[in-house]
Amino acid sequence: MKTSIKGKIHYVGVNDRNKSLFENMWPLPYGVSYNSYLIDDDIVALVDTVDACYFEPFLRKIKGIIGERPIQYLIINHMEPDHSGSIRLIKQHYPDIIIVGNKQTFGMIQGFYGVSGEQYVVKEGDLLNLGHHRLRFYLTPMVHWPETMMTFDETDGVLFSGDAFGCFGTLDGGFLDNRINTDRYWEEMVRYYANIVGKYGSPVQKALQKLGSLPITTICSTHGPVWTEQIARVVNVYDRLSRYEAEEGVVIAYGTMYGNTEQMAEAIAQELSAQGVRNIVLHNVSRSHPSYILADIFKYRGLIIGSPTYSNQLYPEIEALLSKILLREVKGRLFGYFGSFCWAGAAVKRIAEFAEKSKFQQIGTPVEMKQAMTTPIYEQCEALARDMAAALQA
Ligand code: FEO
Repeated sequence: MKTSIKGKIHYVGVNDRNKSLFENMWPLPYGVSYNSYLIDDDIVALVDTVDACYFEPFLRKIKGIIGERPIQYLIINHMEPDHSGSIRLIKQHYPDIIIVGNKQTFGMIQGFYGVSGEQYVVKEGDLLNLGHHRLRFYLTPMVHWPETMMTFDETDGVLFSGDAFGCFGTLDGGFLDNRINTDRYWEEMVRYYANIVGKYGSPVQKALQKLGSLPITTICSTHGPVWTEQIARVVNVYDRLSRYEAEEGVVIAYGTMYGNTEQMAEAIAQELSAQGVRNIVLHNVSRSHPSYILADIFKYRGLIIGSPTYSNQLYPEIEALLSKILLREVKGRLFGYFGSFCWAGAAVKRIAEFAEKSKFQQIGTPVEMKQAMTTPIYEQCEALARDMAAALQA
């Protein structure tokens, strides 16, 4: 059967190629999948649902597998509406279904959907026997909401992991990692992690430690491929990102109105390259969507921010970016900065305030330029780059 994953477990998720912005914020150039799983055992269970817009194809997939048999359990690992959106409709089609969640789940179900009825409130380590498959529940709060939990099928080693190990990108044709080319998902996994889960590094680490000893053969996340052959790589990506571990390289994110501040960024980048730094990414914050900048900040250890002074404040897009970095509590970056002004400097002072809050290691001397590039400013930019390269290579 084309939907089959392992044992009696089937993929019944859907692809969204229509939405432009995930959470109405994050671009989806390759779309996104909402994954749901049906366990066609003696007792039938559904794991998570899909965005309500896709309920009809979702229900068709379910009925294609179980026909008119009832579903006894709906397991809710995560309540964000991209997965919980079809709960009310499922309940209408299967009025006797028992919803399985933890004590945090049911308040949200009531609040979002006004759905009540029979509940199975699980605690850490509880077991649900479906006949062939035995499901054990693990509470993993804040990966990505407080009610998040994971369900582990002890029979076949299948982990239903919620958002963890997820990525952007639709599943074109196949959903198993060994039946599709997975190249495009790795960058989108970093961008998904950095933007959606990025703040929750510590809960992700706790979850990884809790689940680390399980004999996992398959990871069924709520977004992206079902992982079978590339589990080690996926877990490694999440492990490194949640520890804020980064590669050697520098992100230079700058604002510029007329290209003067941009010349400082260029000068720094050229000297970084001359000093042997190979991964250098420049982001003009007015052109690059912040989701891509954040992904690169999670990826590389060096970060240099540059901003013109705008109405005695930071350039607004830089201010927004800095607040997104602080929100995610990014740690362990080597940090340098520069700024410019026309008649009264503010940007460098504001970035200094950010530097203190971020607890990043400050590298070199901040460069402040009045109006346009001069030889001394160029040399100061080069000095900042040399200090950054030396810190990276130390
Ligand atoms: Fe894919 Fe946190 O929802």
